[in-house]
Parts: sequence; structure tokens; C-alpha cells
Amino acid sequence: PTTPPMQRRLASKMRFVADLSQCLFDFVIQLLPTTEEMAVKEDVRKLLERLIRTIEPDSRLLSFGSTANGFSLRNSDMDLCCLIDSKERLAATDLVTMLGDLLERETKFHVKPLPHARIPIVKLSLDPSPGLPLGIACDIGFENRLALENTRLLMCYAMVDPTRVRTMVLFLKVWSKRRKINSPYKGTLSSYGYVLLVIYFLVHVKNPPVLPNLQQMPPLRPITTEDTHLAGYNTWFFDDIELLRQRWHSDNTETVAELLIDFFRYYSRDFSYNTGVASIRAGLLKKESKGWQNDLSGGRYNDSRERNRLCIEDPFEIDFNVARCVTKDGLYTIRGEFMRAARVLSTRPERAIIALAELCE
Ligand code: CTP
Ligand code: MG
Repeated sequence: PTTPPMQRRLASKMRFVADLSQCLFDFVIQLLPTTEEMAVKEDVRKLLERLIRTIEPDSRLLSFGSTANGFSLRNSDMDLCCLIDSKERLAATDLVTMLGDLLERETKFHVKPLPHARIPIVKLSLDPSPGLPLGIACDIGFENRLALENTRLLMCYAMVDPTRVRTMVLFLKVWSKRRKINSPYKGTLSSYGYVLLVIYFLVHVKNPPVLPNLQQMPPLRPITTEDTHLAGYNTWFFDDIELLRQRWHSDNTETVAELLIDFFRYYSRDFSYNTGVASIRAGLLKKESKGWQNDLSGGRYNDSRERNRLCIEDPFEIDFNVARCVTKDGLYTIRGEFMRAARVLSTRPERAIIALAELCE
């Protein structure tokens, strides 16, 4: 009956953390898309592919983003990419306009072609119906081969340690949506950005690392620049996951809950937002070395200053800051949320489920 307070606190902490891991699994599982939803989405992809082929016979329509990388939540949008294999193809602008007209005529989708966007796309949506209670939202882009590759990279990371990586990523996606910090259009961060923050943390911050750096592992056989480069960027990474599972194993035995608590702590307190760039390819880089510094004065740099508050290097397009949409206010809000989450988890309420509910409220 007289356990010393230190030991009692430790026991209560261990109980909370074990309980939290279980709650995280249970929470995430019920948010996964149903097999039915996945089947409907695959049917939609096939239908759209058939229609696009009436305009461009040599085209393929491929999924990327969450539907293809293993980080999909129930009712997440569909990201589709059209690849055209023939040399003589229409310009993306014309294709977007023609495809928009065709889909408007032939389908029930609401169609919004954006031929003059930085990346021309067609936006589609379907109203809710009994079979599809939440409808569907879908973007079709063209020739975005780098996005297909970065989707494959994230999928491989998810496969190296499915339980810990997927649980963390899926939880952060739900959390960031519920806390309203997942809107690049409103100055906060895209899901893709959050996924990169998680991978960066698991590869470069945790010691021992939870994940290997797939872009820096030695290739199995000699490779040439021609094999590895796409649009001028090196897209090589170690993608033989079966072999990797046999040869590589992490010495990090932390549970999902421990990793998540530490993730929030790291990004609320330790990451060097002012000078640092999170790169899953190369670890922590300096804004200065990439020309992304945000402390330059003078009106001419205002744009760059707003653009580079938070810096996350794209794994392949290394001159591209994935977080360039994050504004000063956006970053303030995001960091505030990281701090709030770290605080909620450190107070360790009696039951972990209560902590999760409070975290996402
Ligand atoms: N993408 C990219 N560069 C960005 C943003 C996105 O290349 N700056 C590509 C990536 O291939 C990413 C995909 O677009 O996987 C989808 O991005 P996003 O919608 O942010 O991520 P999802 O995982 O699809 O998340 P959600 O379920 O919230 O749609
Ligand atoms: Mg998406």
C-alpha cells in the first residue's frame, strides 16, 4: 500500500502510454475507407479513363496522393493523373477544356475545368447519393510524373513499418483537419506537408531512427542518370521493400503513443523554424543554403519572406518548398496546435480516450 510517489507516477505514465497506443489504433481503424468506398472510387477512375481515351486514345489515368499511398481516410478526395504515351499530344490547357466539356455532357459530375491554373486541372465532384453518402471530390491533372513518384516513395515508407508510420500519419491527418490547420489555401499546411514532417521526424530526429533514409541507401546494381532522373530531378530511392524488410530493421522500439507525444514536443519546441529546412532526403538543412531565408529586409523580399516561414523540402523537386503557402499567422496557429497537443498529452488524464477526444475536439 505504500508505493513511493516516483514509482506510482511512473506506473501511471506507463499505463497511460500503453492505453494511448491502443486507442490510437482503434481510432484510426474506424476512419479507414470501407472496401465498398474503394471499389466505387476504382469504378470512377475506370469510367473517367474510358472517357478520356475518346479524346486521347493513348492515355492512362492513374491514382496518386492518399488513394495510392496508403494514407487514405474515409471520404478523402481522389487525386488522378493523366499520362499520355504518344508523342503528338494536345497541350494540357486544351485537354483540360475539352475534357471539361466532355464530362459535362456525358456524366453527372459537377465539372470545373481550370485550364489556366499553374498546374492545369479539371475539378470534379459528385453529390451525395444513397450508395455514396458523402459524394466524391476528384482532381484530374496531367503528366504529373513527379507526384506519381513521390506517392510511391511515401507508400514505400508506409510499408517499411506499417503499424507505426500509418497510425501516426493517419492520426495527424484527422487531427490537422479537425483542428483546421490543413488548408494551404488559407495559409496552413497540406496533408502532403504533414506526412513529410512525420517521415522527417522518424528518419532524422529519432535516435535510433524508426525508418531508414530510402533516398540515401546504396542501390543494388549500378544505375545511370538516365534511369534515375525525371524532369531534371533525381527521383531514385530504394524501393525493393521485400528485400529491405529482410535486411534492415529498426533498433527503435518506441510505441506509437511515445512517438506521437515526442513528435508534438519536437515540433512545438525543438525544430528550428527560423533557420531550418526539414528535408527527408538530406536531414536538417539551412534556409540560407537553399536561398529560402526569411529574414531579409526590404519590400522586394516580402513575397519570399511570406513564402518561406516554414520550410519543407520536396523529396525530389528539391528547389520546391512544400510549405510555401504557410503564412506567418498560419505558422503561429500550427505551432500553437502542436503545443496544445503536447500539453494535452502530458497532462495524462485518467483515460487515454479522453485525451484523444480532447486533442481532436
Ligand atoms: N503533392 C505534391 N506537391 C504538393 C502537394 C501535393 O506533389 N505541394 C502531391 C503528392 O503526390 C501528394 C498528392 O499531391 O501525395 C496529394 O496531396 P494532398 O492532397 O496534400 O495529400 P493526400 O495524402 O491526398 O491527403 P488528403 O487525404 O487530405 O487529400
Ligand atoms: Mg488528396
